[in-house]
Formats: sequence, structure tokens, C-alpha cells
Amino acid sequence: MPPRLRSLIAIAALLATACGSTGGDESADTVPPTSLAATTTTTTAPTTTTTTTTTDPTTTTTTTTTVPPTEAEGLGDSFYPFLGNGGYDVLHYDIDLDVDPATNTISALTAITARATEELAAFNLDLSGLEIQSVTVDGTDAGFSRSGHELTVEPDDPIAAGSEFETEVAYSGSPEAIDDPGVSFFKVGWQQQDGVIYTASEPSGAMTWFPSNNHPTDKATFEIRVTVPEGLVAAANGLLASEMTENGKTTFVWRMDDPMTTYLAAVYIGGFERMDHGPLYDGGPLLRDYVPGDSPPEVANALSVTADVIAFLEELLGPYPFDAYGTIVMPFPLGFALENQTLSLHGNDTLAPFIIAHEVAHQWLGNSVAPDDWSEIWLNEGFATYLHLMFAAEHAGTNLNDDMTALHAQLVGAGAGPPRGIEVEDLFGLTVYYRGAATLHALRLHSGDEAFFEILRAHYDRSVGGTTSTAEFLALVDEMAGPAAMDLVESWLFDDAVPELPDAA
Ligand code: ARG
Ligand code: ZN
Repeated sequence: MPPRLRSLIAIAALLATACGSTGGDESADTVPPTSLAATTTTTTAPTTTTTTTTTDPTTTTTTTTTVPPTEAEGLGDSFYPFLGNGGYDVLHYDIDLDVDPATNTISALTAITARATEELAAFNLDLSGLEIQSVTVDGTDAGFSRSGHELTVEPDDPIAAGSEFETEVAYSGSPEAIDDPGVSFFKVGWQQQDGVIYTASEPSGAMTWFPSNNHPTDKATFEIRVTVPEGLVAAANGLLASEMTENGKTTFVWRMDDPMTTYLAAVYIGGFERMDHGPLYDGGPLLRDYVPGDSPPEVANALSVTADVIAFLEELLGPYPFDAYGTIVMPFPLGFALENQTLSLHGNDTLAPFIIAHEVAHQWLGNSVAPDDWSEIWLNEGFATYLHLMFAAEHAGTNLNDDMTALHAQLVGAGAGPPRGIEVEDLFGLTVYYRGAATLHALRLHSGDEAFFEILRAHYDRSVGGTTSTAEFLALVDEMAGPAAMDLVESWLFDDAVPELPDAA
């Protein structure tokens, strides 16, 4: 086997393993019944029913009043219909966590600033597990009830359409990762292992540690304040605004001033060492990594590729979207990496240059530009995979075209189905990553480099800080490369059979 082909297959195998899936059918078969699925199928809209019984000497009258929370069912995501909530738009999360790592417990206060998009007699937040001590709306105690992960809040007075309001939830307990129908290989959310606490929330796990509107369509800015025993380090998204030690406890305040989806919010606590590299260039993002204390020099070596990756991607996509970037390395293997905004989570086994490139690429595509439905995941993973393959080819001095031809043969061999025809079980499978990437390569071969790179950039530019969809991408391809290019992309995304790669334009 030529070394190129071997390394590509190794990449594919590693990523497929990293994604816990060897392809559509098999992964679908191996997905265990999950508690999330169980919750979502049994949860009924948590309307509050009050029954008043009036007794008079002759008759008994029962009056039932129903207070309808708005769109309590969720936002109607095709894969996660019960995630997220209607009736409001979150602007900002202020999350305050006092963490006792020894017992893995938190005492927390999350304040959510939101704007009502309609009059709200009640509204829902997503929170899984934990005990709630109190809920206030604009400083006044509010009623609340829980059913599955739905937390229904009933303010004293209805909230007027268009008005801004602040909800504070005080809660505590031991956060627990949950099963997710899209991730058969891992529980999602808050995790504790070997003296380290970290979060890996994609797609549904954010609700294991803070109440939220848990869907990528509702982005917000964040401040995350974490108090830990002195000597430990707490990291989160964005820039470290302050660090203060008092009475044996240190509080780290982190600010994410750009919009972020809930699944990318992250907290990491442990004996980490911060490695500061300064701004990438004058006015550029701050580069900083977190590694386990006394890491061998190979770890810093592996991370040193990051600056090249960002430079490579800035060339293709435009300026890096956030104020900072870095990798946090766990002192144990994870088998995957995750693009938590501005501080990607990596295991000590997932530090290969192509994986680092993959998570960096997500900062543009996935994070700054998020999918508007979880069934659109190829927009995250197909793009990040194509970009990491481009970087890997450049880095290793291989020929991308040959690599993609070998990959195509693998897709055909595996019978990889269409990225836009997946089930939730295939969210992180071969089809999404590799047929998604090959879709972009096919478009590039068909339309030529110039048109392709203009489309890539326009796709990003048009949705910076927001969300996008396959329909928007197809419209862009139609507009910039014509209907034949759009047909080609459609066949790659929707047809059962793996199409042939076109000849180069
Ligand atoms: N988005 C990640 C990546 O491709 C995969 C995340 C899988 N989700 C998880 N909770 N482990 O880089
Ligand atoms: Zn990815």
C-alpha cells in the first residue's frame, strides 16, 4: 500500500474511532436506548393544571385552569425536538459555579438575560438533574416546576412581548452526564475523571450544568465564574477577566463576548498549567493552551502546530472569529476531541496535527457559523474534515487529490449513505465526516479552485456569529457556481449511492 493511502486510512480509522462509529448501519444498531430519548418520548408539555373543587350543598363543580407554558415541547429540532424553548431569545448567561472537586458537587447561580418574543405567562428552560433552591424573575420569586429536563418558570406577572427580563436560578448538587441519542460512545455534559472536571456537551449536555435555552439557534454571550479550592485551575471560554484568591478559594472569571451556542460552553478544573503564547499577530487572537502539570515536552511540541493551522485557515476563510484560541489537554485519553469555543477539549491521545486542525477549523465552521438544526451536522463536520484534510496534506506534503481519491474508494466500499439523509445515531459517523468532506471536494473539482474558495468564504461570511443550513449553502452554490454545481452537491448530500468524483474543471 502506498504510504499516502496508508496514512489516509489511518486518519480515517482514527477519526472514525474518535467518533465511535464505523458507519451508518452498524452504529445505528449499537446505539443503546438512552435516557434522553426516554425522557423526550415520555415528556408531555408541562402545562400546569390547577384543580379547584367548590362544594355547595347540592352540586360539586370542578374547574380546571391551565396555564400554558409557551412551546414547552422545545424548538422542533428534527433530531432533538424537545431541546430549546420558544417565546424568548437569550442575550446573556452569567454562570456562577462554586465547585467542590473532592465531592464533585456544585453550588450555582445562573442569571439569564433574555428578550421575550411574545407575552409570557410562563416559559421553559432546559436543566437536567440537580436541585433547584429558587427561581426569580427580575428579582421577584417565581413559581417553578420540573418534568424531565424541562424547567417551567411562572413569573408573578406575565412578561410583556419585546421586553428584556432576567431569570436567576439558584441550584446545587452533583452534575451528572447524560445519555444522548447522537453520541453512543460517551455520556454528554459534566464529567469527572482522575481529579479533573471537564465538560463535553455536544449536542445536548449543556443542561447538565446550567439552565439554558439548549439549542444552537439561540446564541448568547457568556460570563462564567468558577470558584475552586486554592491551587486548582479553572478554565472556560473566552478571555480570563480576573483571578482572585480569598479564604483558600480561587475565583476565575471568564468572558465570552461573542455569541456562543450552549453546547460549546465549557468548564475545566484541575491541576493544569497555562501556556501563554501571546497574540498570534498584532491585534490577532490570544493563543494560550492548558496542559496537565509536568506534561512531557511532546505535549507542547504537538500544540506548536496551532499557529500554523490558524494562519492556514485565515488565508482561506478570513480572520479568526474570536478573541482567543487554545487547546486544553486532559491527563488521560478521550478518543475524541471537541471544539468548545476558544478552548478545544483534547485527550492526551488526540493531539495529532490533523485533529488540532479539525478543532481549529470548527471555530469558523460550527462555532461562529452554527447549524440551525442538528440534522445539519455535516455543515460542521464535513467542512472541518475537508479543512483538516487540506491542512494535513499541506503539512505532510501529500497530494490532497490522491488522498481524496483513496477516501472516495473507502466511502464506496463502506456504502456511506447521504450526509443529509442520516438518523440521529449517525450524527458523528463516517457519512457526516467523510462523505461531507468529499462533497466539498467534488464541488471543488467541478467548479475549480477559484469559484470553490469564493463559495467557501461566502458561506462563512454570510453567517458569521449566526447559524446556517444546507438550503442556504445550496442557494449559494447555485448563485456562485450555477445550477449544475448545485445538482452535483445535491446528489452528494441526498442520493443513496456515493457519486463519482468529477474530473477536475
Ligand atoms: N465535534 C467533535 C469533533 O468532531 C465530536 C464531538 C462528539 N461529541 C461528544 N460529546 N463527544 O471534533
Ligand atoms: Zn468535528
